This record gives sequence, structure tokens and C-alpha cells, in this order.
Amino acid sequence: MHIAMIGAGYVGLVSGACFSDFGHQVVCIDSNAEKVASLDNGEMPIHEPGLAELVARNVGQGRLSFSSDLKSAVSGAEVVFIAVGTPSRRGDGHADLSYVYAAAREIAGVLPTQAVVVTKSTVPVGTGDEVERIIREQNPTAKVTVVSNPEFLREGAAIRDFKHPDRIVIGTDDARARSVMAEVYRPLHLNASPILYTDRRTAELTKYAANSFLATKIAFINEIADLAEKVGANVQEVARGIGLDNRIGQKFLHAGPGFGGSCFPKDAMALIKTGQDNEAPVRIVETVVAVNDQRKRAMARKVANAFGGNIRGKSIAVLGVTFKPETDDMRDAPSIPLITALQDMGAEVRVFDPVGMEQAKKVFENVTFCDNAYRCAKGCHALVIVTEWEQFRALDLKELSTIMACPVIVDLRNIYSPEEVERNGFLYCGVGRPKSVAY
Ligand code: NAI
Repeated sequence: MHIAMIGAGYVGLVSGACFSDFGHQVVCIDSNAEKVASLDNGEMPIHEPGLAELVARNVGQGRLSFSSDLKSAVSGAEVVFIAVGTPSRRGDGHADLSYVYAAAREIAGVLPTQAVVVTKSTVPVGTGDEVERIIREQNPTAKVTVVSNPEFLREGAAIRDFKHPDRIVIGTDDARARSVMAEVYRPLHLNASPILYTDRRTAELTKYAANSFLATKIAFINEIADLAEKVGANVQEVARGIGLDNRIGQKFLHAGPGFGGSCFPKDAMALIKTGQDNEAPVRIVETVVAVNDQRKRAMARKVANAFGGNIRGKSIAVLGVTFKPETDDMRDAPSIPLITALQDMGAEVRVFDPVGMEQAKKVFENVTFCDNAYRCAKGCHALVIVTEWEQFRALDLKELSTIMACPVIVDLRNIYSPEEVERNGFLYCGVGRPKSVAY
């Protein structure tokens, strides 16, 4: 099939590359000409394991290309995906749909007859109706169907997730569009990945419900961690004890500094807004967002409490600033409010991240950027693990204890064994584990 993918970001680029790997002919279109030029040169605009190889293979075999010429790419496509950003709208927290609607306006006049337009962006209920209205207004004779096909991939494991999804959700009542989408996903269908066919509004809501539910699990276990600290229990064992129950499941039960990233905060907020607009408030999610917002800054108090509440003039090494490992994405990373709070308390902050340094430099002011974990820790009063990159698990604790000014580790991801850290002469402070310093 001929596919046009509008937006070559995390979702558009990964989806486009995977569709081409399925054997489809794919053009990824992006309005950012610099991004298209670097993709044409084989440079990836994002850090995603395996992506450069996947792109190179499919470009080499002539199935994948990049363009900023929307018209020619779309006019030759049987299926047009919209995978542009839907960030939080400044001021009110609704999803900003301006990029989606701009894409709809741009494609309206150039769509071939019988095209299937698919929103892959995460969009609130009713957005598909508006995309369809925009297209029909400009092109009344086009036989266009607008389908919702939300994406569930995770950054850092995006290719695996795309090729082995837990499920694919396709929202349309139109029989022809369903068979076109079945053809698009045929290799996954053959792999027995479940395809859930539903109506468009249900598909749109499913994505927000999924992300908000996962965010709720994280916020829940974080509050249990706080309670565990107060009552002398161990949250990791509680998480295991509840997670082995199949009705609960073990994933997303890791206590930490609060959720962040490009999706959960904005999607939870957009669901709240949809609920309020429709007089069906999702109060649980409202609480999740409020609790999570407070938590990130509160983690700085946890660091301060390891020093009796005062870190003025102390030097703090922060390891890991991206919102999770295996990505360079800094959007809404918990490290941002945490570092700001440390600075507000008068601390000097040093930072190291294995791949996020370039993005981090665009975000942080007045921090010292270091090129490895040891140089970051040297002379510091505390080492704070904010993102659980694999390489931080293997740090030489003995060496760290000799180069730091004061041996304190605040492990906001619970990656270390407290006993081992303490054996190396550190004061250890985790999250929701015995001897963790509360905030
Ligand atoms: P992104 O910001 O990385 O990429 C969006 C791209 O679209 C940018 O490269 C931008 O230049 C381009 N663009 C914007 N308007 C355009 C237009 N009119 N024509 C051509 N290109 C245009 O965004 P990301 O992270 O890929 O997210 C896209 C959507 O997918 C969002 O709705 C997001 O919520 C959703 N999503 C994101 C996931 C993630 O892990 N990042 C996972 C699942 C869904």
C-alpha cells in the first residue's frame, strides 16, 4: 500500500519506518525542513534504539522516503496518517489541536478520491468528526473516511512495541476503511496481535483511558511508598505482593519521583478537560495529576532532609535527566521541577545523562553539565538518581565514596540495594523502603 505519514516525530517516524518494514511504500512528511534534510542524510532526529538501522534498511530498499512536499506525497497515497503533536494548550490544559487541524486543512484539497485518513496522534473525543468536517468543507466530493488509530508505543522500546503490540485499536464504522486498515496491519494480524475494531469516538477515548489508568497506577504506588516510609514498610515488596495478583499486574508499580514525559501529564490533563466539558468529571484523574505535580518538587525536600533540611551551598550531582531511560526526550521530565527546586533551596546542581545532554542544555540554566557520572559526582555532597539508566546500576560505589565530598545517595528509582550502598560507606535514601528519608 502507499502510505503518507504526516509528522516525522517519535510516533510518525517509528510508525512510518515499521510500516515500510512490513512492505508498504511510505513517505514521511514533516513541515520541519531541517528534520527532513537530516533524515535524508541518515541522521536520526531522536534517540530510539534500533531506529537508525531500521530506517537505513528501508530507505536502501526503496520503500521509505522523507519529504516536506505534502501535496505530492498525499496525492499518491491510499492511506494518510496524521501523527503530529498534540501538546497541552498553554493556559487551559486542553489538547492543542492546531497541528492536527492544520494538517487536515493542508491535505483536504489534495487527497485522492476514496482516501482513508487516520489520526494516529492522541486526540480528544470528537476530533475525528472535526477533521472530517474540515476535509469535506474544502473538498465536498471526496469520498474520504476518517479513522482513529491511536498509538500505544513507548519511547525507548518503540520499534518492539510497534511490531509486537498488545493490541491495535481501529475506530471506524466504515467497512471499506476497516478492510484498508486490516491490510495496513496485515503482518501484525498474521502474528495474531489482537485488532480491536470499534467506533471512532470509542477509539479516541480508549487512548486517554489507557494513559490515565497507567498514570493512576504510578501515582497510587507513590502514595503507598510515602506511607511505607512513615510506617516502616517496604514498597517494593508491597508492589510485588499486589502485582502478582493477575487482576492488578506487576507493571507500573515502581515508586519514584512521579510520572512525566511527553504523554502522561498532557493526556491525563486533556482527559480531565474532556470530563469537565461533558459534565462527567474524572475526579480520580484530577487527583492523580494534582498529587503527581506536587511530588516532583517534593523530591527536592527529600534530598534536603538527608541534610537535616538545609542544602544551601551544597553541591548536588543529578544522574539522569530524560523522562525515562533509552530516550533523549526531556518533555515534562520530572528532573525539571526537581532541579529547579534544588536550586531554589540554594544548592549548586551538576548533571549527567547518557544521551540527553544536548536536550538538557536547552532546558536547564545555571547547572554544570558533566560528561560522565564520576566527573559529575566528584566533590559533590549528594548523588541523586533521577532516571534509571542501566549504566547507573553498575557504578563503582567504592570509587564514588572516595571522590564525593559527602557520601549520600538519594536513589529516587530504587535501583540500588540499600545494604550494598551502606557497606560502601554511604548514607542511603530510597523511595518507600526502610531507612528512606521522607520528604
Ligand atoms: P513530535 O513532536 O515528536 O513530532 C511531531 C512532528 O510533526 C514534528 O516533527 C513536527 O515538525 C511535525 N508536524 C507538525 N505539524 C505538521 C504538519 N502540518 N505537516 C507536517 N509535519 C508536521 O510528537 P510525537 O511525540 O511523535 O507525538 C505525536 C502524537 O503521537 C501526539 O499526539 C502524541 O500524544 C502521540 N503519541 C506519542 C507517543 C510518544 O511516545 N511520543 C506515544 C503514543 C502517542
